[in-house]
Amino acid sequence: MNRKIIVLDTTLRDGEQVPGAKLNVHQKIEMAQQLKRLHVDIIEAGFPASSAGDFQAVQQIVRSVGDSVSITALARAVKSDIDAVYESIKLAQDPLIHIVLGTSNIHVEKKFNRSKEAVMQLGVDAVKYAKTLLPHVQYSTEDASRSDFEYLWSTIEAVVKAGATMINVPDTVGYAVPEEFGELIRRINERLKNMDESVILSVHCHNDLGMATSNTLSAIKNGADKIECTINGLGERAGNASLEEVVMGLKVRENFYHCYTNIQTQELLRTSKLVTYLTGLDVQVNKAITGENAFAHSSGIHQDGLLKDKQVYEIMSPEDVGADSMELILTARSGRHAFKNAVEKMGFDVSDETDFEALFTKFLTLADAKKEVYDHDVFYLVTNHRTADEGSKQLYELASFQVVSNDLYPTATVKLKKGADTVKGSAVGDGPIDALYSVMKTLVGLDVQLKDYKINSLSRGKEAIGRVNIRIQYQDKTYSGRAMDMDILKASANAFLNAINAILLDADVVQEE
Ligand code: KIV
Ligand code: ZN
Repeated sequence: MNRKIIVLDTTLRDGEQVPGAKLNVHQKIEMAQQLKRLHVDIIEAGFPASSAGDFQAVQQIVRSVGDSVSITALARAVKSDIDAVYESIKLAQDPLIHIVLGTSNIHVEKKFNRSKEAVMQLGVDAVKYAKTLLPHVQYSTEDASRSDFEYLWSTIEAVVKAGATMINVPDTVGYAVPEEFGELIRRINERLKNMDESVILSVHCHNDLGMATSNTLSAIKNGADKIECTINGLGERAGNASLEEVVMGLKVRENFYHCYTNIQTQELLRTSKLVTYLTGLDVQVNKAITGENAFAHSSGIHQDGLLKDKQVYEIMSPEDVGADSMELILTARSGRHAFKNAVEKMGFDVSDETDFEALFTKFLTLADAKKEVYDHDVFYLVTNHRTADEGSKQLYELASFQVVSNDLYPTATVKLKKGADTVKGSAVGDGPIDALYSVMKTLVGLDVQLKDYKINSLSRGKEAIGRVNIRIQYQDKTYSGRAMDMDILKASANAFLNAINAILLDADVVQEE
């Protein structure tokens, strides 16, 4: 009989640690709702002790989807972190405390500067304390793949005796190779199941050597019951194991792995696109499963073969990952129903009728201007609309602007609105965008540095929409802003304002006087 593999998605925790991928609370909820549609078993919603904003976001995610998906959040092996996790997830129907503590010599010696026994005791005490709060506790042996096996096992044995119900074995720095990692999991699994069959064995692989997916699959083959992944493989450095790759690996090669997941694979592409749009981090075109070319066949020989029988060159169909239903082409005559359907299919909530009517009016304006409205356009329409909503909560809006480009004094004049107030000014710059950003920086009065500016054409059709992604640095954090418009200067201005508004929405930011 096939074995069920539990899928934990950590896009909102490990994925969100990527500089510039920080999401606001509305975006996190949007994402959590899509993860629910994807049928992940557990959502790791954040690291509540890291900031007040993260704590509140985890609480909101619990309120939004915690009645039907298990929710966890990360804690170091200290009481205050565990309390923060407990307080933020306690209302979920199936909450799980996740504790992490290193087991490799380098972590024990360099990070903690204590004896191995003392570090192990910290872990045991943390689990014992967490168990006084909730029945389900996961313990992660950070840097497990570089740990001395007998010490790793002693730690696992001790924390299981203390009450841990899940043991997560991370390849924290992406050092493992599939055969070796599989063997590690086989050895742990053998001892663990002898000790207590009910304890779940999990893995968490990073992609520094491009082997996160292979290592995860190898672990499954060798007995892992649970996997931790992220959408688009987002995560620290080179990222985590990509959920879509592992899940489709199990599905397509069921005859080899004899395992299955609960994942609704037709939601994979939509989820991947949502992450791309929300974080502004693009997926490479040839990425397995969700890249733009993942199902494109260009050579004549392949096309000929496919026409004869799809299976000649296709091991899975685009429909399996939801690629068939992605491309929407709407027009001004599509009507409310078609538009609502399109918005809902992208994972957005449209239950508020008044909000939907406002959105529909904006859609009609765009459809009049653009004639053909693609899925990308709808996506941006909704996200822009939601950001504009926040504008009523005293955020900046672009009231009007003029940019003059020349080779002497490129100049920008901008008027901004914030609630009932307006501010305006002009500046010259090295170029039109520099002039635009320099006047806006003065008007908002925040000492931000532009770190990255990217522009690309978003949609097909001759009235192509420009999408601008920027990253700015403020205090010690990076914020991203995105906007789209047929006018690329307007998109550039709005992307800047969205990044500024992200700073204003960040509950942890200490505002400059
Ligand atoms: O990479 C890692 O070790 C982690 C742990 C918190 C599981 O992210
Ligand atoms: Zn990690």
